[in-house]
Amino acid sequence: MKTEHERIEWRSTEYEKLVDLRDRLFRRPFDLSYSAEELDGELNDIALATRIDEQPIGFLSLRRVDDSVVQLRQMVIEPEFQGQGFGSDLVEFAEQVAKSEGYTRIVLDAREESLEFYNKNGYLPMGEKFFYKTVMHQKMYKDICG
Ligand SMILES: CC(C)(COP(=O)(O)OP(=O)(O)OC[C@H]1O[C@@H](n2cnc3c(N)ncnc32)[C@H](O)[C@@H]1OP(=O)(O)O)[C@@H](O)C(=O)NCCC(=O)NCCS
Repeated sequence: MKTEHERIEWRSTEYEKLVDLRDRLFRRPFDLSYSAEELDGELNDIALATRIDEQPIGFLSLRRVDDSVVQLRQMVIEPEFQGQGFGSDLVEFAEQVAKSEGYTRIVLDAREESLEFYNKNGYLPMGEKFFYKTVMHQKMYKDICG
């Protein structure tokens, strides 16, 4: 089994396959889908994917907040590959990419059920929990300088 983490092109075939995965996990359960405007808004994000034997099975993107902070968004691993360390490996890869782009802090909005995952990867909570699309979230951060 060959595993790779790579930066991918916005709206490439691979990107679109991963939009399908995101749609399945993040939108369809709420009877929602990704709008063209929303995907257009991802043009300047850094999109990263995990591939197993050439097939994309994981995704996350990094969106610039300011010169030192970047937001980790849309983290997802194909269900049959969850719980096998691929998510943690992709987050570690994202941290290397963010560092190489000059960022010193990663922030994210974690769904309540993924708090433990981010906690295990060194992310700390900040502020109060809040609802977004009826799901409880927690803002988290990790300093990646040094
Ligand atoms: C959350 C997610 C990205 C984690 O990726 P993953 O590949 O399954 O996670 P890993 O296998 O790297 O897990 C690392 C650790 O976090 C823990 N963990 C992972 N998902 C967890 C969950 N949902 N709840 C509690 N702990 C979790 C694992 O137990 C593991 O700990 P261990 O090494 O001590 O066993 C993935 O499960 C997923 O796509 N979930 C659905 C979408 C989602 O919730 N995305 C996050 C949006 S904020």
